[in-house]
Amino acid sequence: MRVMVVGSGGREHALAKVLKDSPKVSFLVVAPGNPGIGTLAALAPIASDDVASLVNYAVAEHIDLVVVGPEVALAAGLADNLQQAGIACFGPTQGAAQLESSKAFTKALCQANDIPSAAYTIFEDKDKAVAYLRTRSGPFVIKADGLAAGKGVVITTDLQEAEQTIADLFGGRFGGAGSQVVIEEHMVGEEVSFFALCDGKTSRYFGSAQDHKRAYDGEKGPNTGGMGAYSPTSLVTPVFVDDIMERFIDPTLRAMNTLGMPFCGVLYAGLMLTPQGPKLVEYNARFGDPECQALLARFEGDLASVLMACARGELDQAPTFHLNDQSAAVVVLAAQGYPDHPQTGSSIGEEAANQWGEQGYVLHAGTTRDGDGTLRAAGGRVLNAVGTGATLQKALETAYEIVDAIDWPIGFYRRDIGWRELNRKSDNPALLTS
Ligand code: AMP
Ligand code: GLY
Repeated sequence: MRVMVVGSGGREHALAKVLKDSPKVSFLVVAPGNPGIGTLAALAPIASDDVASLVNYAVAEHIDLVVVGPEVALAAGLADNLQQAGIACFGPTQGAAQLESSKAFTKALCQANDIPSAAYTIFEDKDKAVAYLRTRSGPFVIKADGLAAGKGVVITTDLQEAEQTIADLFGGRFGGAGSQVVIEEHMVGEEVSFFALCDGKTSRYFGSAQDHKRAYDGEKGPNTGGMGAYSPTSLVTPVFVDDIMERFIDPTLRAMNTLGMPFCGVLYAGLMLTPQGPKLVEYNARFGDPECQALLARFEGDLASVLMACARGELDQAPTFHLNDQSAAVVVLAAQGYPDHPQTGSSIGEEAANQWGEQGYVLHAGTTRDGDGTLRAAGGRVLNAVGTGATLQKALETAYEIVDAIDWPIGFYRRDIGWRELNRKSDNPALLTS
């Protein structure tokens, strides 16, 4: 099988690492990839949202399966165009990717299908939105409708800031993403990232993880794409999995079918565990980053064959796979200034960090390599240190040993990844067995 992965982050490095081990894969290329991925797969210098070039390349190289990492490619219609060219694609069409690309679409779908989610109102007019805000008390949750790279959500107790946010969104801060604005009920609770594989008709639970969205320790600082993750989490029991599949994932798949937009790919439910039960914060139409890195560190099976079965609408015939009993932890190293103004170009010494083998390893994200071999930061999130072990504590120890072996004074990272789970276990011994 000739496989192409689209994307250039830690998620795609993790996908490439596992796909390369699939016995069926005879050729693996990543577009555009990064220097870390380049050590295990061919790289094609094509941007993730350059649909025409990606399709032309896939046709010319006789690619059998395309695995799409980032949402931009899906929202740009990559899956639709590949389908037309007769190439199997793991990732939804543009219509089905609206589950991620339009919050207004997803809110309406949830409401019509009794999928628990925050109450909401949609505005297309700034003055009406501001007038509505003034009738409410905070915290205010304000979201741009479209894709905004994880930065389209503002939560504030300050009415003035909320009004300014509305003005900014309608004023074009996120381009077209702000032409509709969603104002939501504020929910409270822990968050879980829940992943299901879908082939358009059927679904199968893949795994869960917990992300760390804030930039700094103690859940302080701005929201980011994610500063670290671990898997599994004791919040997710078999009963919980069945409940989420039954009340969230399966009704969503049925609704998408009825709308004539079957969803194929990975459906990622961002759930909040509120006192009233789990509620949907958002759907994503792709694997989470860095959650994917934690999930795939535990994957056992032939990933290429599983994803191909999904892409062909034959998930029920996929070979068996499972996530093993190990814990996995991911610590993201980001460039100073991330998420707003990451400082790029600094050199990174990571040679000493490449000695742990399968217990722990480095995955690249925003990196580039000079002609002389120097590794440099080229983005916001730059490296991921992945550790695995019999317990979360052990996995974290390994991940942080790797972080400490990376020589990059301009980088920063969180020291408290997994803190919720670690506290849960010491506070509540009953959870130790779950
Ligand atoms: P989203 O981009 O929709 O995932 O939102 C980013 C983050 O904002 C989520 O992970 C939550 O932490 C928070 N958030 C979003 N919606 C709400 C809400 N209705 N109530 C409380 N927090 C929210
Ligand atoms: N880590 C959150 C996301 O991938 O959207």
